[in-house]
Amino acid sequence: MKQSTPLLEKNGDMTAAQPLLELNNVVAGYGPTPVLFDVNMTINQGDIACLLGRNGVGKTTLLRTVIGLNRPESGSISFDGQEITKAPTYQRARKGIAYIPQGREIIPYLSVLDNLKMGLSASGKKARTKGNGIPTEIFDFFPMLNEHLSRQGGLLSGGQQQQLAIARGLMCEPKIMLLDEPTEGIQPSIVQEIEDTLRRINQEKGITIVVVEQKIEFARKLAQKFFIMKKGSIVEKGTTNQLSDALLQKYLAV
Ligand SMILES: Nc1ncnc2c1ncn2[C@@H]1O[C@H](COP(=O)(O)OP(=O)(O)OP(=O)(O)O)[C@@H](O)[C@H]1O
Ligand SMILES: [Mg+2]
Repeated sequence: MKQSTPLLEKNGDMTAAQPLLELNNVVAGYGPTPVLFDVNMTINQGDIACLLGRNGVGKTTLLRTVIGLNRPESGSISFDGQEITKAPTYQRARKGIAYIPQGREIIPYLSVLDNLKMGLSASGKKARTKGNGIPTEIFDFFPMLNEHLSRQGGLLSGGQQQQLAIARGLMCEPKIMLLDEPTEGIQPSIVQEIEDTLRRINQEKGITIVVVEQKIEFARKLAQKFFIMKKGSIVEKGTTNQLSDALLQKYLAV
């Protein structure tokens, strides 16, 4: 019999939250000037969390620091029970962190199929697949991609490129997906599709999601938790039903 964990015993709650990603007093930036100051953030297993804040407050830098593209000057990051503060980016990807950068960054001259295959090589895993090497579930989440497999990535619409970027992140069977403004510049019908697909990925695969967003309504509908950044620090957090107009006005209105 598996022993119950102290947390479960203490709360008597089988759904007690387990931390998956923790940042403790993280200071990071580009070169000598810090952009993040004492960032503390805990993302629990299974959460969908949104990270909000005005332009330039450090949202992208925070995600880059989690995946290892920026190195903390001080503080620590742990993921899935292990400290990863100094781990190289490829090891973080292998441990199950997928990063879908702002602006999507698919390879425009490669086909949709080859863009997807790049997700596999990032993970170092051999996927269970049929035929073309792509797990069938990828096309279950993104049926559009199946219709455009041989198309150059750069010829897809912005919304389709975003879906390709998310699908590529999913290829490495991550435990967490970090998405930086997945709805930026995308038409409303595709924004809705992306919202529905991310929710399904969370519910059906149990993948934890952190999404940086400017579209408050999208963030409110998709996420259960929110974090607000100001000048490189997290200044407010809570559940999205506590995301009041006063908070939005104070930290997000331009
Ligand atoms: N490559 C870089 N080199 C030096 N400074 C940078 C670099 N990228 C970003 N910065 C600075 O770091 C700060 C935070 O930028 P960051 O891109 O993390 O903000 P953001 O919240 O993601 O903004 P946005 O909403 O516009 O995407 C800004 O002052 C920015 O000028
Ligand atoms: Mg950004």
